[in-house]
Amino acid sequence: MDWPGSIAFQVAPSGPLHGRIRVPGDKSISHRSLILGALAEGVTEVRGFLEGEDTLATMAALSAMGVKFERQDAGQIVIHGVGLHGFSAPKGPLYLGNSGTSARLFAGVLAGQPFDSELTGDASLSRRPMQRVLEPLSRMGARLTLSERGTLPLHIRGQKGLLGVDYQMPVASAQVKSCVLLAGLYAKGWTCVTEPAVTRDHTERLLLRFGYPLTREERRICVEGGRRLAATEIDVPADISSAAFFMVGAAVVEGSDILLEEVGINPTRTAVIEVLREMDADITVHNQRTLSGEPVADIQVRARPLHGIPIAASQVSRAIDEFPAIFIAAACARGQTVVRGAAELRVKESDRIEAMATGLKALGADAEPTEDGIIINGGHLHGGSVDSCGDHRIAMAFAIAGMAASAPIRVQNCASVETSFPKFAELARRAGLDIVITGTGRG
Ligand code: S3P
Repeated sequence: MDWPGSIAFQVAPSGPLHGRIRVPGDKSISHRSLILGALAEGVTEVRGFLEGEDTLATMAALSAMGVKFERQDAGQIVIHGVGLHGFSAPKGPLYLGNSGTSARLFAGVLAGQPFDSELTGDASLSRRPMQRVLEPLSRMGARLTLSERGTLPLHIRGQKGLLGVDYQMPVASAQVKSCVLLAGLYAKGWTCVTEPAVTRDHTERLLLRFGYPLTREERRICVEGGRRLAATEIDVPADISSAAFFMVGAAVVEGSDILLEEVGINPTRTAVIEVLREMDADITVHNQRTLSGEPVADIQVRARPLHGIPIAASQVSRAIDEFPAIFIAAACARGQTVVRGAAELRVKESDRIEAMATGLKALGADAEPTEDGIIINGGHLHGGSVDSCGDHRIAMAFAIAGMAASAPIRVQNCASVETSFPKFAELARRAGLDIVITGTGRG
């Protein structure tokens, strides 16, 4: 089913942002907790799980393969693991909605199963590149077919006997890395992946937490097939990608002072903090601690005038989901911000370079898309209407822009915010954003 796109955000100039908030659980860790919990032996309990449409799509696909879940409370899920070889064949295609993470991670897991399967998704997911997982999996001996355009549906032929691979990834992608490592659990011998730039390492951390050994040396990670995962307990940190919208809002709206609680600050994800600090944002990281093997902290952001910067290409993969928010910060800053080496933004839930440039221009900003990035000359945002293109992060970025603009902003097509941030408008309103949802549908 495609997003109905029937709801919009109406945001008026507002703020300051204030108080303490905890944004929902980390999406990447929530997906991986479900998948690894299902593949483990025994009962895994997850707290702080993100109950968003993307992670619920992962849960539904696992249920279709015989995995049992119990929801004990909000965000509290018990997973009855079936072990690496305990899935039953699904009766039909596994529909993964908008979720690229589900599609790429399941491709790896299903490549190692003895039964046939098919992965499908909504219109956005069905446009996204999947050749990047087919290529390494085929080298491991998996039998997969995609559409002629290299997109979903993905058909996976059941078989026994993947072979380990030593794979140099051409693109920096945590989803591809995770896909290959998950297939590696089913492969004979060692499977190694080398990434061209550091990407989020939640799969590696969680595999270790589930007792599955792996080796890591710089950007090369290896697993040996045929070991077991043992059930565990997982507390999921708040998602830094969701917190980023409030970081930017608080940085740019005068008088703001907000505390974002228990945010994951895994160093593979924290470039948004570095970038905003380089723009002169006032960010203090309090009370650093560890939660289920992941570093977390409370992050305080106070408003202070920002200036534009050139963003280093080396930071891109560690801030990949935060660029829509960073572009809003750049549009509100003094001077020029230049982003290069970020072509991956064009193959996310939307083409985020085009979607952001078009929306920013509609609000009077000076934003020029380039092949692999954008050049933004900061200044003033006026009101207007922008289209999120059905992309959750574009929708939330422009909602935040509405607070800092000189007149109201209408953001169309916001239903997909439910994929990663249920109750976004409610929480944002509580923090000081004047936001109203119009239309019917989800959101
Ligand atoms: C994710 C990896 C990133 C990110 C996505 C979540 C993950 O995608 O953009 O939102 O959970 O592994 P890529 O691997 O395509 O960069």
